[in-house]
Amino acid sequence: MKKVVLVTGANSGIGLALCERLLSQDAQLQLCLACRNMQRAEAARQALLVSHPQAQVTLLHLDVGNMRSVLRAAEEFKQKYNRLDHLYLNAGIMPNPRVDHKAFYKGLFSSNVVRMFATGEGLLTQEDKVTPNGLQEVFATNIFGHFLLVRELEPLLCQMDHNSLVIWTSSSNAQRSAFSLDDIQHQKGREPYSSSKYASDLLSLALNRHYNNRGLYSSVICPGLVMTNLTYGILPSFFWTIIMPIMWLIRIFTNTFTLSPNNGAEALFWLFMQKPESLDPMAKYHSLTSGLGNNYTQPHKMDIDENVSEALYVKLLELEDTVRKKLRDEDIDIKAKN
Ligand SMILES: NC(=O)c1ccc[n+]([C@@H]2O[C@H](COP(=O)([O-])OP(=O)(O)OC[C@H]3O[C@@H](n4cnc5c(N)ncnc54)[C@H](OP(=O)(O)O)[C@@H]3O)[C@@H](O)[C@H]2O)c1
Repeated sequence: MKKVVLVTGANSGIGLALCERLLSQDAQLQLCLACRNMQRAEAARQALLVSHPQAQVTLLHLDVGNMRSVLRAAEEFKQKYNRLDHLYLNAGIMPNPRVDHKAFYKGLFSSNVVRMFATGEGLLTQEDKVTPNGLQEVFATNIFGHFLLVRELEPLLCQMDHNSLVIWTSSSNAQRSAFSLDDIQHQKGREPYSSSKYASDLLSLALNRHYNNRGLYSSVICPGLVMTNLTYGILPSFFWTIIMPIMWLIRIFTNTFTLSPNNGAEALFWLFMQKPESLDPMAKYHSLTSGLGNNYTQPHKMDIDENVSEALYVKLLELEDTVRKKLRDEDIDIKAKN
């Protein structure tokens, strides 16, 4: 049976590198690139077909921060495919990131330098905004749109004859201190990215609790520090080029500086080769690269709590009801006006 794989945010960075590696591993794969910009998606498809001319690569229009788009995309996907083996929830944003320069320069010359680069802890803030659906944009894109996608694709993910795996691209920047159950969208804070990634860790655990008996498993990865559009949004590319010699030097002492999208995709690729039921629901699988450039994957226990994970899951279900009702009401209004 040909495996079906769906990757969100597949047109650049870690997502695109993952697609390249998946096609090299399994030529029979049916790969679907879910992207918000169809021009960039087509360019990615063409790039993949250059190295894999026989590959079956389709495109799906998906703006994961727009709930109407999520519902439409899921419907289209269900019409095209009757199974889904791996769902990579990889699309992510970190809008208008600000670096606390004082903390940065202090950290650069301290013993904390590796941890500072590896996690961005205490260093990065972002300016979030509200989407037309009335949700915080980072929450909507990094978490809620993906949650709704999983819920919509349940019939394909939960099948009795095989297990499926949902894989979240989380981060070491997922910090317990940035997340609050009283403010799951992070309306009040200045670290929505960290909050959203911590929420993905919690949600993955909850999905395992609620869906394992139906054949759906969920895992979380951290790609390490990777040079992509996302990192170039934090500091300009010339800055990264200037400090690159330092980064390569640090790489001798730490394995979390994966740097290239291909290296960063290691854990995502490794999970593709595993049996979903053999994975540890409490582990975050890290892409790591040794000083000599060898890639490997290592599980680290997540700093998460079963009760908080369940409470978040309940809140997401409630929010899902609210959003669906709002969309239905909007449809009724539009019909009434026509
Ligand atoms: N780079 C790192 O060091 C690092 C570290 C930890 C975690 N991560 C995570 O890795 C994942 C991939 O990021 P990356 O580093 O590869 O950066 P990237 O090159 O910017 O890739 C992000 C992808 O997400 C897509 N995307 C963003 N918003 C979307 C939306 N509303 N709907 C659909 N697609 C959307 C982007 O599409 P467009 O081209 O249309 O923008 C792009 O394809 C993210 O979840 C990120 O948080 C990255």
